[in-house]
Amino acid sequence: MRLLVCGGAGFIGSTFVRQRLREHGDEVTVLDKLTYAGREENFHDFAGEEAFAFVRGAIEDPEAVGGAIAGCRPEAIVNFAAETHVDRSIAEPDAFVKTHALGTHVLLEAAREWGLRYLQVSTDEVYGSIEEGTFTESSPLRPSSPYSATKTGADLLVQSYFHTYELPAVICRGSNNYGPYQYPEKLIPLMILNALHGDPLPVYGDGMQVRNWIHSTDFAAAIGHVLEHGQPGEVYNAGGPDEEPNMTVVRRIIELTGASESQIEHVTDRPGHDVRYSLSSEKVRALGWEPKVRFEDGLSQTVAWYRENAWWWEPVRSGDYREYYERQYGRALS
Ligand code: NAD
Ligand code: DAU
Repeated sequence: MRLLVCGGAGFIGSTFVRQRLREHGDEVTVLDKLTYAGREENFHDFAGEEAFAFVRGAIEDPEAVGGAIAGCRPEAIVNFAAETHVDRSIAEPDAFVKTHALGTHVLLEAAREWGLRYLQVSTDEVYGSIEEGTFTESSPLRPSSPYSATKTGADLLVQSYFHTYELPAVICRGSNNYGPYQYPEKLIPLMILNALHGDPLPVYGDGMQVRNWIHSTDFAAAIGHVLEHGQPGEVYNAGGPDEEPNMTVVRRIIELTGASESQIEHVTDRPGHDVRYSLSSEKVRALGWEPKVRFEDGLSQTVAWYRENAWWWEPVRSGDYREYYERQYGRALS
């Protein structure tokens, strides 16, 4: 396939691009604004390949989107482009509204104009928090943060383009991803890097919130599977095989890095913190996808990757991220 992958310079987008180039022989053009989270370093192992091209631009810019499509003539648009950190959405929601509402609208209009298939990458957070049981695709949408509310709005807009204009659009909603190339504002890479540097490990509240962990290669494969086999107009959930409370994840990272339990510091809880996410993946499993990486193995591989790839995280940890960290946690990194 020829694909336009929006937001492909981020964590999961670049994992998806690598998989499509290596395992499927696709031609891929990435359109990405390169926000703080988007990095050309994520293309380091395929940047020069003929089947790959990169265009810098924002999804909310119709000229950038039209130019990228005219340049690569894709069969489908896969949209990863998003502001993705819940804490940043609580502090400064503006960019979330712009990218998720306006950006998704511009991409949908372009898909309609050029007659393209469209896949929206979405999140389990659109369903809100669930104390018991598991969310299916027909669970009510009850987002609780500006991040998840704007992602939900984007999903509804995508569905409206299927119902109104018969745009062949699908949505794939994932649970919490982890793996190489994840920006260190998120729980797992933040804890790994702080553990390795002897910094405090800031656990929000009691740390008993549960997340349903999926390795980024498994979520990328689910997205590819839905793109190839999903029914237009449908939503497919892709949840990981394991659920863990945050404290268990942090303790496991301490073991894997040789850090100390005394580094754990319980800090002020996230406002409106969702207690538990859990996603049923029966519908996408029925299409033939299943997750391959168990959390225990994936986490130790991820710790090893961060240990071995300081070239990737050193510029981040010594740049703007330090200022973000001080604003968010009220203390400096070592
Ligand atoms: P990320 O923050 O690592 O990357 C986001 C990418 O989007 C970056 O490359 C950034 O530069 C780009 N981007 C942001 N705004 C843009 C804009 N206006 N125009 C063009 N590019 C823009 O995010 P991620 O964790 O890789 O998440 C990718 C997608 O997967 C998002 O849609 C997110 O909602 C969804 N998702 C993430 C997770 C998770 O646990 N990380 C789970 C489920 C779903
Ligand atoms: O569920 C899918 C979502 O997972 C994605 O849609 C989001 O883009 C992604 O950021 C992620 O959201 P979370 O809020 O669940 O992830 P985060 O890594 O920010 O936090 C995971 C849990 O860890 C959550 O309960 C909050 C807690 N936490 C997080 C940080 C950054 C801490 O206790 N301390 C921290 O410093």
